[in-house]
Amino acid sequence: MATWSAPGKVFLFGEHAVVYGKPGVAMAIKPRVFVTVRKSRNPTRAKSPYIDECFRMMGVRGSVYVHSQLQSSSGLGSSAAVTVATLSAINDEFNLGHTREYVAETAFAIEKKVQKGRASPTDTYVCANGGMVLITGNSKRRLPPENLQVVVGNTLVPHSTAKMVEQVGNLRRKHPEVANPILDAIGAVTLAALHNIGNPKELGQYMDMNHALLEALGVGHPVSSKLVLAARASGAYGAKITGAGGGGCIIALCPRRAKSRVAGAIEACEGRAIITTIDTDGARKEKHD
Ligand code: PMV
Repeated sequence: MATWSAPGKVFLFGEHAVVYGKPGVAMAIKPRVFVTVRKSRNPTRAKSPYIDECFRMMGVRGSVYVHSQLQSSSGLGSSAAVTVATLSAINDEFNLGHTREYVAETAFAIEKKVQKGRASPTDTYVCANGGMVLITGNSKRRLPPENLQVVVGNTLVPHSTAKMVEQVGNLRRKHPEVANPILDAIGAVTLAALHNIGNPKELGQYMDMNHALLEALGVGHPVSSKLVLAARASGAYGAKITGAGGGGCIIALCPRRAKSRVAGAIEACEGRAIITTIDTDGARKEKHD
């Protein structure tokens, strides 16, 4: 029996624009998904298409138990974390000897297949490797970890990443003269933020700009606007949608002393708050009996 875990992730900057080759910055966060795999001749069928595909790709059969600290369909990378942790646990339980890179690439192939082609390598790469990552097209670069204090606010409005990506694609086709400059501006904000990555106050301002640009792209939602405003009013350096938008989660960058106040303000707006910070670990072995 082998148990592995993988962390969730947030986009600090650049979601949607990364789909069009602009830079984006994502970070692994503390909440994790834990997956236990056991060799079994008569495995029960997993309820998740991601898990079924993991066993199929690795060419083995086994039973699986999942414990998740991440809500699904909220934009925190739960499907990537389940896939990465399952592949890692299978690899360990069956002594397959694959590398972390292989696990990340296979997880990306599985996400693409299950999500019918609509996935960037961001989630699977960040879940497998942890830390902070700069994504530009297909290139991924690990950035030196920053100890950013973050509060995630879940709107509890489920979203579909595929639908939101399609919506931005439609806007771009219909109004390229409007949508393209917005995507360029998001890329510029990400680059400016990268130059100030050690300065949370500045970063907060870039987050606010990024949020306004995401709303201009049409991926806002009344509840995410409410949570973003509440976070800023209660002392966050800045706040924005994180992930595909249209519901899902927001992220607020906070001074350490303001974290619980910001979390309280989010909960008072009927959002669900998670106080967290960077997880540098990536996929991790928890137990092997
Ligand atoms: O909602 P999430 O966390 O799956 O993020 C989607 C981010 C997009 O840039 C909109 C799409 C992608 O695959 O990068």
